[in-house]
This record gives sequence, C-alpha cells and structure tokens, in this order.
Amino acid sequence: MISSDNTLSDITLAQVLLARGELVGIPTETVYGLAANALSPQAVARIFEAKKRPTFDPLIVHTYSIESLEKYATAIPREAYKLAEAFMPGSLTLLLPKKDLIPDIVTAGLPTVGLRIPNHPLTLELLRGLDFPLAAPSANPFGYISPTTAQHVRAQLGEEVALVLEGGACTVGVESTIVGFVEGEPTLMRFGGIALEEIERVLGRQVRTWTQSSSNPHAPGMLASHYAPRTPFDVAEAGKLQDLADRYLQQYLPTEIGVLAFQAPLPCLPTAQQVVLSATKNLNESAQKLFGAMRQLDSLPLKVIIAEYVPQEGLGRAINDRLKRASA
Ligand code: TXA
Ligand code: MG
Repeated sequence: MISSDNTLSDITLAQVLLARGELVGIPTETVYGLAANALSPQAVARIFEAKKRPTFDPLIVHTYSIESLEKYATAIPREAYKLAEAFMPGSLTLLLPKKDLIPDIVTAGLPTVGLRIPNHPLTLELLRGLDFPLAAPSANPFGYISPTTAQHVRAQLGEEVALVLEGGACTVGVESTIVGFVEGEPTLMRFGGIALEEIERVLGRQVRTWTQSSSNPHAPGMLASHYAPRTPFDVAEAGKLQDLADRYLQQYLPTEIGVLAFQAPLPCLPTAQQVVLSATKNLNESAQKLFGAMRQLDSLPLKVIIAEYVPQEGLGRAINDRLKRASA
C-alpha cells in the first residue's frame, strides 16, 4: 500500500498508479470498485487475480460522458441513448456492441461491453483526467459481499490494491442495474440501483427481465451464489421472519442467530445481533444499508443469519435479488 505524500493529491496519485497498470479502489454511488486501465490486458488481468474471479465473468467499463460511450461501443440503439440521457451519470450499466479497442479479457470474449458512468464526484474527476477508461468490478473477493465503504475494501483487498480512494459511504448501496439489448429489445439483466419502473417510465414500455443464473452464464454476474456472507444465510418470505427464527431456535441458542430485519427487530431474540434496514420501510435506505449490515452480522460469532424479503418494487427488487443469492 502506498500512502499519499503531501506533494500529490489522492486523485493525481491514483492517476499515476493506474497509468502504471496498478489497481486502485474507487468510490462510486453504488459500491466501491477495483479499478484498472481497461485498455491494458495486463492491468485487467490483475483484477481477476486480486479478486480470484473466474475469467468467464466480464467486467464493466467506466467512463465519464455519454459522448465517450461512443469511443468504446458501436451500433448504439436509440433506446440506449434514451436511458443514457436519463440515468448517466448514475447506477445504470448498458451492454453494447464493443469496439475492438476494448480487449477481450474485459468482456470475457463476449461481443458486448458493459459501460457505465458512475455518479461520484471524486471518481468522475479521476476519469476525466485519464486517457483510458477504467474496468472495475465490485472491490470484494469473488462471491463475497460488495463493499460500500473504503474501509470494506481495505479490510479485504488492502494487500492487492496500491491505493483506495476515500469517497465516503456509498449512497445507493447496491450495484448498477444492467440493461442489454437482446435482438434489439431492451432487457434487464441485473436488478440494481435504478428501479425497473424508472427504466420502463423512460422507455414508455414494459421491459423484460432476464436475470436467471447458471454456472456458465450468458449474462454472467448472475451466478446463483453471490454476495454471500461466510455465516450460513437464510431468507424468509415477507412477514415470515418470526417463523424462520422459531425454526432455528429448535436447533440454536438465541445468541447464535443473527437477524437482518426489514422494519423491526424480532422481540424473541437479543437486539445486539439484529440489524434493521429501515424503521420507516424505505427501500432506498434499505438498499444503502444492506451490504454493510450483512458484513456487520457476518463479523459476529453466529451460527446463522436470517433475513426477510422486502416488497418487490423499486429498489426492493435489487435487495431481494441480493438476499436470494446470499442464501443460495
Ligand atoms: O455498480 C456497479 O456496477 C459496480 C461498480 C463498481 O460500478 N460494479 C459491479 O461490477 O458490480 P461486477 O463485476 O461486480 O458486476 C458486473 C456484472 C458482472 O458480474 C458481469 O457478469 C456483468 O456485470 N457484465 C459485465 N459485462 C457484461 C457483458 N458484456 N455481458 C453480460 N454481462 C456483463
Ligand atoms: Mg460484484
């Protein structure tokens, strides 16, 4: 780890390191990313090594303007521009036919590239000062919970990254929504920080969702087991958290069960090992807190963590998707 000296600002230092092919942790509004020069196959290879990520899982490329999307993608559909204008910078990734400039290692050999303009002032400034875009997956070891603070990145990948830019806690808290165009039809591939309803509102029509998982996915990132804490994790249907707790209480002590509750803690268990996502049932607040809460509970000596699904609307879809994958 390099600590910044007084002659260079952190952003300048990050630019120097990235130009040298090193890895830098970057803040975004969704989650922290583990960034490298997207145009350098060697630099990108270090991301896969650091994360222990299988090379069939492609990376998102980050840039700073809608015009710059055209440097890396071609044949951009009209509806992609509509979405870009509405949600970029923001928590949206568009899958678009890639130009040859983007190395195959970035897209895992796929003909499309995921492009995103993160909405974080520090990272936008960083990107504007670079003459290459940044490939960046979430900055967690493969399969583990995504980081929403710089501290989360340092705790797990501190040895692997030259620098982590401190950008505060992520304001959205779940990864970007991924939209691709399958036979020209806009198709949602991952629920994320922009709600499906918002996408449909901008396009003025229903958008199909295709977020199924398999072990060698056509739309990877959609692996069934993901975002998973090390502690066994189980999810109850909305309103059934107490029933699930009762089931585990036949097996474990009350102190051995952690709870990730939507609105209120369970009265039958100690509050010290329970986290409430939003006392007011706010789904944006819940998304913002989700991964930090999972990490917090995962750090406790528990036998199981139980959670409950939230309403399947707005960011609730992204939350439920992450809960489901964490329990797979
Ligand atoms: O919010 C985010 O999207 C964060 C921040 C750092 O930008 N990034 C992120 O990256 O979540 P990652 O790698 O953890 O998840 C991106 C997923 C990958 O799992 C991959 O499967 C999918 O996006 N993806 C990327 N490029 C793709 C492509 N060309 N076709 C299909 N899926 C793609
Ligand atoms: Mg990830």
